[in-house]
Amino acid sequence: LDSREGKVIYLPYLLERGIRKDTIHKFKLGLSGSGRTDILEAGLQKGFTAQQLFDAGLVKKINEDQGVIQSNLRDTYIERITFPIENLTGKTVGFGGRIIKKDTKAPKYINSPETIVYEKRKVLYGLNHAKNEIRKADQAYVVEGYMDVISLSQAGIENVVAVSGTALTEEQSRLLKRFTTDATLLFDGDDAGVNASLKHVNTLLKADINTKVVLFPENDDPDSYTKEHGKEGLLNFIEGNSQNFVHFIAGIELKGDDPIAKAQAARSIAESIAQVPDPLKRAAFVSEASRLLGWQERVLNEEANKLRMSGLKQGRRQNPEYLPNLPPTPPEETVEEVNHQEWALLKSLILYAEKEFSEEEDVAAFIFRELIEEEIWPVDPEVKELIDLAHNEWKEKGGLTQMYFIRNPLCSRFAADCISGLYSLSDGWERNYDKFVPGYEDTYKKEVVENLNYIKLKRVEEAIQENNEKMKEAENDEEVIGYQTIHMRLQDLKRKITAEIGAVVLK
Ligand code: UTP
Ligand code: MN
Repeated sequence: LDSREGKVIYLPYLLERGIRKDTIHKFKLGLSGSGRTDILEAGLQKGFTAQQLFDAGLVKKINEDQGVIQSNLRDTYIERITFPIENLTGKTVGFGGRIIKKDTKAPKYINSPETIVYEKRKVLYGLNHAKNEIRKADQAYVVEGYMDVISLSQAGIENVVAVSGTALTEEQSRLLKRFTTDATLLFDGDDAGVNASLKHVNTLLKADINTKVVLFPENDDPDSYTKEHGKEGLLNFIEGNSQNFVHFIAGIELKGDDPIAKAQAARSIAESIAQVPDPLKRAAFVSEASRLLGWQERVLNEEANKLRMSGLKQGRRQNPEYLPNLPPTPPEETVEEVNHQEWALLKSLILYAEKEFSEEEDVAAFIFRELIEEEIWPVDPEVKELIDLAHNEWKEKGGLTQMYFIRNPLCSRFAADCISGLYSLSDGWERNYDKFVPGYEDTYKKEVVENLNYIKLKRVEEAIQENNEKMKEAENDEEVIGYQTIHMRLQDLKRKITAEIGAVVLK
């Protein structure tokens, strides 16, 4: 509002888009101008260290091989409008930055990385402004982008949050559930919007949120629609076009009357119904779906129950705290703890086996060598079996392809899920380790190395635990001292691995 660049370039852009000055204040919209080191200098001036600014993602290295020193740093956000991302208490924990130049290949938005203050999976953009209105209306509108939140809020529709271009997480859904039991997704009607909605629906249902979907005409989003049709226009559109998830999925899958599409729709709907925790609601949705698809209720019910049971089994293995909601387990079926680290490594092997790791090795060769040399061959029975088989194949054929995993009936399903992005690491693991999860911005090499490091870390932690047990049983001081020495060495090792990962390990 005050700077020259702001007045000449950025403010006119926002005003042109219909954003008012009070809205700019409310959402603390800013700009990061054409200077290459303005943020760096301002940050240093304010008493932050270069390392802190770097860790916050506000500056980046010019030369990767050099350190975090002032001469090697440059602002991350250059010539962008900045959108502070605030946590529930209104503290800024990150930034989105929108480019306003048109003739550029740079991404439209850049976003802060995961940091110790910005745990992306736990933050919803706009929630701190929206939470009271969401509670009052007992309804949240979930939109795709920063501008949608801002422009609806400006129009007087305040119960809006954005997922910001990523998949809605279970944590975000549970967070929303603290304020409302009802959510409506307001998404673009194009393929990307529909696919995103399908994913979000299941995550919201799982958190016991009644979920509806409104798809906008192609090339429209809630922001542009509101700009064109005003608040009443938007509310009318929502009113006239909101569908519950059963209708939404049926509408997508049921093109024509052919039996295969019908079966696909039935399965897809059953999958969503299976997420719903309340059995009465499930029954209601089953009968609705049955009417809609002309499918017997019994069949749909069985399918939904089957999917629910297998989902729960998986959930139980990952999140022991969910146990109380479950039917009793037969005693002979003892539940093994899933070794997420080893599954993650297997995933990397499937995804990247043939890719180059170094000049001498591909990823498969590197992984097998590490597993042997570091003595960390998998112990999870399923992973071990699959890695053993893959290792044999690799030795026989002198290489490993993704096709091998897809063709192997023992893991074809898992491989398909990995490749399609359906398989992701469990919440439980992320929570326990408060871990930095390698995101898609990281390269595959880094991912492979990190997965191996997490396996090492787990082994060291197990060794520490075992050593502690022994220390308790020690018969005399000499033995105690021996175990203490081992303890120190293991702690040392743990610190080294942790430092390499760059993760904060709480437990
Ligand atoms: P859109 O491309 O729909 O942008 O991305 P938008 O919010 O409508 O923004 P305007 O109207 O063009 O200014 C939706 C959301 O996806 C994320 C952002 O959070 C954005 O708000 N996104 C999009 C990114 O993170 N990076 C990108 O390059 C693009
Ligand atoms: Mn838009």
